[in-house]
Amino acid sequence: MIAPIALPRILRIGGGALQETAEVLALLGLSRPLIVTDPMMVKFGLAERLQDVLRRAGITAAMFSDTVPEPDSDAVDRARQAVLAGDYDCLIGLGGGSPIDTAKAVAVLAREGGEMRDYKAPRQYSGPALPVIGIPTTAGTGSEATRFTVVTDSATHEKMLCIGQSFLPVAAIADYELTLSKPPRLTADTGVDALTHAIEAYVSRRANPFSDGFALSAMRAIAGNLRRAYMDGSDRAAREALMLGATQAGIAFSNSSVALVHGMSRPIGAHFHVPHGLSNAMLLPVVTAYSAPAAEQRYADCARAMGVPGAEGSDAAAVAALLEELHRLNVDLAVPSPRAWGIDPARWAELLPLMATQALASGSPANNPRVPDAEAIQVLYGQAWAG
Ligand SMILES: NC(=O)c1ccc[n+]([C@@H]2O[C@H](COP(=O)([O-])OP(=O)(O)OC[C@H]3O[C@@H](n4cnc5c(N)ncnc54)[C@H](O)[C@@H]3O)[C@@H](O)[C@H]2O)c1
Ligand SMILES: [Fe+2]
Repeated sequence: MIAPIALPRILRIGGGALQETAEVLALLGLSRPLIVTDPMMVKFGLAERLQDVLRRAGITAAMFSDTVPEPDSDAVDRARQAVLAGDYDCLIGLGGGSPIDTAKAVAVLAREGGEMRDYKAPRQYSGPALPVIGIPTTAGTGSEATRFTVVTDSATHEKMLCIGQSFLPVAAIADYELTLSKPPRLTADTGVDALTHAIEAYVSRRANPFSDGFALSAMRAIAGNLRRAYMDGSDRAAREALMLGATQAGIAFSNSSVALVHGMSRPIGAHFHVPHGLSNAMLLPVVTAYSAPAAEQRYADCARAMGVPGAEGSDAAAVAALLEELHRLNVDLAVPSPRAWGIDPARWAELLPLMATQALASGSPANNPRVPDAEAIQVLYGQAWAG
């Protein structure tokens, strides 16, 4: 088997890495960046810190700071106008997955044109695009190192996965110090997102020995530190491990895939505006219970990498311990069920068939060790409903 691997050309990982942004641009021969970020990054002073770093190297960086959480195609179009209005040779996505995904989407649209829906999976796009430098602040999506962007179609409310080499940043700068301001809820949600990336990359039908190494290492880093960072946001060692784990998990799933949890999570996000990591967390226990019989050894490996108590014995015992741990994790991180989150039961029931269809259409469920049909997906949504 030949595994097709793609990575950013440059990775800078560690506390203070933000300071090396200008050097990274110089290595890439880039000098006219547009910073693509959100209002919170301006409020927290992170955007200005980045501008200062660049200014010291003689680069005056313009900024578009109006990206929105879980971007839709209208928001991406507004960013596109800003990009087309200037003479930029690269985009710096600064923030969580939302600003980085916006930068990646615009990098393609500004060069190749068209609408976002033209790029949705199963199409894979590897044509012209502006280079993107990803600087994550959530230790979650791994978008700084993935060949994906996720944008909701404003017309249809479909959360579209767009795939291809041109969506892969040329450089990733993973500086955990940028995550110290995350409140506990965001820490939990983005951490579970990263953990889900690692688990799904490892159990995916597209898993390979290269992605396996990153996935297992990410699981170890995330599982051992998520509760700590949630309890104490100033725990620098935990924050550092989570940032490393999130980037590793991004590398893992970008070179393998995500699977059923993500396939089912996107419609919940699109229709009910549940943050991405939270909708993953709502689904992870039930989807793991459904999938594990088809890949017992793989899930047992996950339990062991995560250091789950009771995982040392047989594979069956390790899987049982993993399922217990995923339930316990949701309790400890105060993850609500969709019902407890306040989703209207009638609207949920009405949308289930469409959600199941959209989950399947994304292609992610086909990578799952156990591949469901639309009916099985509806049953799983039903099991997740009340937690
Ligand atoms: N491209 C990929 O490979 C990929 C993978 C997974 C998820 N995603 C997508 O990424 C998006 C979610 O990204 P996300 O979970 O990183 O969240 P986000 O970017 O939507 O940010 C959520 C909120 O947290 C705030 N925030 C970010 N960093 C902060 C910090 N350090 N301190 C305080 N507040 C901070 C933001 O301003 C925002 O209000 C979704 O659209 C999801 O579908 C993309
Ligand atoms: Fe994700």
